[in-house]
Amino acid sequence: MNRTGPVTRIYFNEVATRDGLQIEPNFIATSDKVALVDALSDCGYAKIEVTSFTSPKAIPMLRDAEEVMGRIRRVPGVEYTVLVPNLRGAERALESRTDELNLVMSVSETHNLANLRMSREKSFVALQAVIRHVDGQTPINISLSCSFGCPMEGEVQQEEVLRWSERFAGLGVRGLSICDTTGMAHPAQVSRMVEVLQKRFADLQLTLHFHNTRGMGLANVLAAVQGGIERFDGSLGGLGGCPYAPGASGNVASEDAIHMLDAMGYDTGIDLSKLLVLARQLPEIVGHDVPGQVAKAGRIMSLHPAPAYVAQLREAQA
Ligand code: COA
Ligand code: ZN
Repeated sequence: MNRTGPVTRIYFNEVATRDGLQIEPNFIATSDKVALVDALSDCGYAKIEVTSFTSPKAIPMLRDAEEVMGRIRRVPGVEYTVLVPNLRGAERALESRTDELNLVMSVSETHNLANLRMSREKSFVALQAVIRHVDGQTPINISLSCSFGCPMEGEVQQEEVLRWSERFAGLGVRGLSICDTTGMAHPAQVSRMVEVLQKRFADLQLTLHFHNTRGMGLANVLAAVQGGIERFDGSLGGLGGCPYAPGASGNVASEDAIHMLDAMGYDTGIDLSKLLVLARQLPEIVGHDVPGQVAKAGRIMSLHPAPAYVAQLREAQA
């Protein structure tokens, strides 16, 4: 540990069973989803985004949302949240006794039309109705997709992110997730964003959500942490991606981000050994290799025996 001063606590929200599984080519069995969430619950996460209450036609991979929410084991201290795009989704989510509703819209008009089939203004009005309907019974988080860049529109202006954040803050939400849906953010942009967000929305839970599409995921996590952000989304194995964002690929791998922060002396609250066991089981669950790196390489402290000739060389040189 080479940092000084009090250890900073970083809170992780695991999104593999939502962001991760929504884009998988094959349906993952409900019992596998439940078992994965239950195993993740024992790893020390602050929050788990279990599933989404979207149209089963739009996201068929998560059509078993009710059943998954009904069957998971709820571990005290872990919040179980779900993604919700509209009022119908909110009703389903509340019925499932979710701990939080994660409402989603995009800062990019084009991506919002592609993903949610309505203008941003229409999404805002719909989500406002959801917030009124929930009426403070359950905390609300807003995920703003494409907050750094849109694969169809290009760079997204920081002012636009602040404008939509402001509108939702005015509705009394608990938190905002600033999402880099297709890995277009770079660390300098992230530093600027988190500085302004923390000044303007000091009372809100601010979460950063990065995808590693262009290999900048961990660099962006680091930029955000060094800018004072304490909450992150991550996806086990680096699964993930929005089916309505061309070229989307996986989130930052939770275990890689947690391993990095752990090595730097941050307190993530996560049992990394348990998490790596799960990350290594993931290829079997989804039926293909996954991008996460630490599960393959091992932690920096899991050392390898030196080859036999090294001992001989040492002796010869003594
Ligand atoms: N849960 C279940 N069914 C829903 C639903 C929900 N939250 N919202 C809409 N539906 C159903 C409607 O009942 C209707 O069904 P029908 O065709 O059998 O009558 C159908 O979906 C279309 O409804 P409509 O209100 O016209 O929605 P839409 O076609 O404009 O779709 C969304 C809007 C948001 C519901 C849909 O695009 C969606 O779920 N997108 C998923 C977004 C997402 O999760 N992206 C990845 C994460 S960012
Ligand atoms: Zn995402």
